[in-house]
Amino acid sequence: MSAQMPGIQLAKTVTSVAALGFVPVAIKFGLFDILVEIGKPAHGKEVLMAYQHSANGDEKNMPFDRRRIVRHGGTRFGGHDSRVRLLRQRHYQALSAYTLGSTWSVAFVSRRIFNQTGPCQSKSPSTTEALLAGAFLMRRLESDGYQYPFQELQTPLQFAYQKMGDVELAQQHTYDIMAAEGRMDSFNRFMVGKFMKTATAPERLALFQYHLNPVLQDAKSRRVIAMVDIGGGRGEMMLEFKQAFPDLTDKDLVVQEFNQEIREIPGLTLSTWDYKDDGSKQPIEGAGVYHLAHILHNLPDLDAARLLQKLSQAMHPQSRLLIHEFTKNANNAKMHASMIALFGGRERSASEWRQLAAVAGLRVTFEAYPEAGEGLVEMRKL
Ligand SMILES: C[S@@+](CC[C@H](N)C(=O)[O-])C[C@H]1O[C@@H](n2cnc3c(N)ncnc32)[C@H](O)[C@@H]1O
Repeated sequence: MSAQMPGIQLAKTVTSVAALGFVPVAIKFGLFDILVEIGKPAHGKEVLMAYQHSANGDEKNMPFDRRRIVRHGGTRFGGHDSRVRLLRQRHYQALSAYTLGSTWSVAFVSRRIFNQTGPCQSKSPSTTEALLAGAFLMRRLESDGYQYPFQELQTPLQFAYQKMGDVELAQQHTYDIMAAEGRMDSFNRFMVGKFMKTATAPERLALFQYHLNPVLQDAKSRRVIAMVDIGGGRGEMMLEFKQAFPDLTDKDLVVQEFNQEIREIPGLTLSTWDYKDDGSKQPIEGAGVYHLAHILHNLPDLDAARLLQKLSQAMHPQSRLLIHEFTKNANNAKMHASMIALFGGRERSASEWRQLAAVAGLRVTFEAYPEAGEGLVEMRKL
């Protein structure tokens, strides 16, 4: 077993609950039967064609939302005993056993957790939210004719609160719901270690043969801030860079946050920026590096594009944007499903990063997609 295996297994287990919510969706669209009929690993396009064939119509006669569901189906359904598994990105295969969890069992479990422990006492960050989102995913899709992907204030989680009669939380973003339920402190702690840390950020960059030194030297010669970590949580990554590059001072390293639980970070500069505020541009211009770690997978495509545009406007031609996200592959398929259900977000592939970069006036200039753990995408101004 490689050193990373326990982390992968833990991540897969923790992210299973929201992914289970996709099981009834697959049943509804007959995807298990289609895969059994295909009888071998199949690409998403083949599944779509078989679905069109079985639906007895061509693509233009299918409801738009149904086509999107098939196309966005980069999700592994169930565990070892499910009928379908994602083999590689967007490849699916039917398995023999047929023991699938139902939405109702997920709903029952989430209700019990919610009622018995109360959302504030759950030790595992966002487990309650993930359970609720998974349980209500199918109902959420049914509620408006299978419109998909979700907007960030209309995910299955807001729908769950609406159905539970909490009108106020039903209108709030998932992070605001977690804050209102007193869970941000536990979430922030979890984000520091995540599922299991095998390398620091500077070690990971070195492993990818990404050369940071010239970028830092350039920032120094331009007398600008070396690094800005947007949504940087408790500053774990910036502190790792400070340790690896002792020349970097508190003033060179800025964490931008919008999180009421984070009030100061010794050794770094903490500043407030709400990247969602339409009227607020990125206040730090021309920095050496802008980091986005696990931020974009929380955002639907349009919101991700808006944030990239704001950064692009602040960037100097020598500035780098470094995106640290999990690779979109079978190992992280349930993480992808969780981001969809909780935020309307998603993991993204190389071609999807290129599309996002292009709409923001950026280009991809470096990329690394490891099988496990966080990858790296560098973007620069066009
Ligand atoms: C998934 S965590 C990532 C934290 C850190 N980058 C990491 O990788 O560990 C998302 C972070 O974004 C912050 N965040 C959420 N919405 C934000 C906003 N509108 N503006 C700034 N930060 C925000 C949250 O407070 C949280 O710390």
